Amino acid sequence: MRTAESGWRREALEARSDAQRALWDRAESTRKAVFGRRVFVRGVIEVGNFCRQNCAYCGMRRDNGALRRFRLARDAVRRVIGEGLPASVTDLNFQAGEDPVVLREVVLPVIEELANESRLGISACLGTFDLRLYDELKQAGARGYILKIETGDAAHYRLLRCPGTLERRLEAIRYLAQTGWSVSSGWIHGLPEETPDRAAETLDLLCSLPLAGCSVSPFIPGEGTPLSGAQAADLERTLNAVAILRLSSPHWVIPAVSALNLCHASGYVRALRAGANLATINLTPSAWRDDYPLYRPGRWIMTEERVLRAIEEAGSEPSPDSWIAVSSSLRSSVSPLSSRGSIPASSVGDVATDRQESSEGRAS
Ligand code: 5AD
Ligand code: SF4
Repeated sequence: MRTAESGWRREALEARSDAQRALWDRAESTRKAVFGRRVFVRGVIEVGNFCRQNCAYCGMRRDNGALRRFRLARDAVRRVIGEGLPASVTDLNFQAGEDPVVLREVVLPVIEELANESRLGISACLGTFDLRLYDELKQAGARGYILKIETGDAAHYRLLRCPGTLERRLEAIRYLAQTGWSVSSGWIHGLPEETPDRAAETLDLLCSLPLAGCSVSPFIPGEGTPLSGAQAADLERTLNAVAILRLSSPHWVIPAVSALNLCHASGYVRALRAGANLATINLTPSAWRDDYPLYRPGRWIMTEERVLRAIEEAGSEPSPDSWIAVSSSLRSSVSPLSSRGSIPASSVGDVATDRQESSEGRAS
């Protein structure tokens, strides 16, 4: 069903030229009203590429027999951390395919040690598990969990063979939020069979969830997947989606994703200008990076140097604080109205004005 909310979002997705500039300007000033010029910087370690799922769009799907599978040893992960993280990193994210073995044998013990020894914000992006495993991760010291819905339409979700069911994914998101996690979700924009209705529905659903943040990745046809011949997502629409999320949920932590640079060399910086406020430095040991084929071989690896340059080019500066710490304090201070994640609006302009007013006094 089309509501006033999905109406403006649907229109804003298509914004071009002056309308697009105005949309991004409003998103950028909304971000600045809440977070100032600061962009969070996290490190990611891709700890393994085994996956029990078979998502149609992803190169790590279990049916991709061409992929050399790996799990990092605990010591290899400890070495990455022990040899000194880049100075700008305030948070560490552990990412893997859906693999209970890497979760139990590598991630849990490493997080336990790390939480005792450092002040880093710790997050994980490991998939859907029995809810008790999330409790164990939290007990170990993780505070952020990233669980993307990829699409907000249940039939589309099934068609793309995303993990389990959309309903189950949403239950897990709600459980995590209720049990005190900072939860981030995500959308892959431009997946095959996405329609304008499905896109608007996805944005509406995401904005109604109890999230601390959300990403939008452009769909990139992945090698070794049934969708390798499909069309890639439109960069402009993807960036408009970033701006829409910012305007809908001013206090969210919204990453600029490295896949944007596969669309265009300026994609990453433009996401930071369109309202994104989290950059990620890839810390996976170089011997394994090419085996983590989220999109296709020849990934765009974000080093510290590239991340800092992008932040500077976007007129921002690295945040000295963890995204998890800041977003949990923001969530506890936002009003019930804005913490629902969306404010009714008849136009993009109205939305931005509401945002700037409602976020006053909350800059970190
Ligand atoms: N295009 C864009 N994003 C993708 N992901 C996986 N495959 C693709 C693709 N082809 C993202 C999904 C998933 C994460 C591991 O990578 O969001 O959650
Ligand atoms: Fe596995 Fe995640 Fe890729 Fe799906 S998107 S196949 S769950 S790594």
